[in-house]
Amino acid sequence: MKILVINGPNLARLDIRDSSIYGDLNYGELKSLIESAATTHGLVADVRQSDDEATIIGWLHEAADSNTPVIINPAAFTHYSYAIRDAAELLKAPLIEVHLSNPMAREEFRHTSVISGVANGTIGGFGPNSYVLALIAMKNLLSGAN
Ligand code: DQA
Repeated sequence: MKILVINGPNLARLDIRDSSIYGDLNYGELKSLIESAATTHGLVADVRQSDDEATIIGWLHEAADSNTPVIINPAAFTHYSYAIRDAAELLKAPLIEVHLSNPMAREEFRHTSVISGVANGTIGGFGPNSYVLALIAMKNLLSGAN
């Protein structure tokens, strides 16, 4: 089963972001980790990244049309993009929101997610492992185990 994994703005530059917040992996390494964790759990991850809101909305439309499950780290769009929320709401298959850091333990503007309300659940604060946990949660959701 194919899972679309969408990463939002600035996540391709993990190499220069604060590793004490986002962990030690660069984006290429994070992408490989997600792809191999998906394989381990019998899934195929299509991992994408964009800094562009319209591109992310297009990918969500594509997932809605093809009934593809989505794991999304909307990055800063988490906190204010009603357009991404409205696109995410169109999905018929499950949606899981992930974060490398724990936004609730950071600045106040990060405490609001406009995406969480249309997601099946949110996983954050575990570094790259947040994505692995999201893949396991997705597998369980798809098999009706939770
Ligand atoms: C993030 C948290 C967001 O607040 C931030 O804007 C990001 C990354 C995370 O993965 O921890 O870019 O989504």
